[in-house]
Amino acid sequence: MDYIFDTGSELGHHHLDHLGKLLDTPTTWRLERLGLRSDMRCLELGAGSGSIANWLAARTREVVAVDIDTAQLYDVAPGVQVIRHDLRDGLPVDGPFDLIHARLTMLHLPQREELFGRLVEALAPGGRLVFGDITDRPLEAIAVPEPADRDLWDKVLHLSHEVVSPARGISWTWARETADRMTTAGLVDIEIMEYSQTTTGGTDGCLLHRNLNQQAEPLLLAAGATPAELTRYRALMTNPDFKAWFYQFLMTSGRRRSGV
Ligand SMILES: C[S@@+](CC[C@H](N)C(=O)[O-])C[C@H]1O[C@@H](n2cnc3c(N)ncnc32)[C@H](O)[C@@H]1O
Repeated sequence: MDYIFDTGSELGHHHLDHLGKLLDTPTTWRLERLGLRSDMRCLELGAGSGSIANWLAARTREVVAVDIDTAQLYDVAPGVQVIRHDLRDGLPVDGPFDLIHARLTMLHLPQREELFGRLVEALAPGGRLVFGDITDRPLEAIAVPEPADRDLWDKVLHLSHEVVSPARGISWTWARETADRMTTAGLVDIEIMEYSQTTTGGTDGCLLHRNLNQQAEPLLLAAGATPAELTRYRALMTNPDFKAWFYQFLMTSGRRRSGV
């Protein structure tokens, strides 16, 4: 199964820009508190725009940034090595790494369990594995311009999350399974950080929903959405009278024992 979105497209560029604005602050807050050192070697998987790879490069020795589509990795900092590679085929580079980070990447990969095993093996003694992924916690609409918009929101999200994305290999349970998998793999110091916020029409969270809806349009129409519903939904995502919960984002981290 191929990745559902088109990273190299203009919509893909805006998609990554919205993600950075929504999640770079909580992501870097967490990574900083997990501990960074200037001698660390880092691996950034599904690097997207490179915003986190660049941030890590300013604080560590070396960053390897991997993505199936490197079109948006055109402005990387010195110290970032970009590798174009399909992670469904495993890792393109040998460890050991002191930090391996993947945000909103593992949930997209049907081969995530095999890759997870390879990532644990690629950790240096004492190295950290950090995943940031979203969950299927329901995205409740808090305010809608018209009563019928609530049903429209629920229908479009149902088609997106329960019909279209599982057919493309996306897992909505991975984020909550990660900590147990880390335990089973022998990692220690396993912690989860949760981040969530509301989003209002016209702001990054709603504009991201609109963007993903545009990228997945053929799949949504095939799943039973009508063109009129998609048009109304996209208008709703720019309407400041609309407000809903945005995705629950979990950052799960674990550490390989020192000396193992
Ligand atoms: C949702 S985006 C997240 C990007 C970035 N990590 C962020 O959070 O801003 C998923 C990223 O994973 C990449 N990707 C998807 N499937 C991949 C695969 N099979 N191998 C490598 N990268 C992949 C996409 O190109 C995209 O950059």
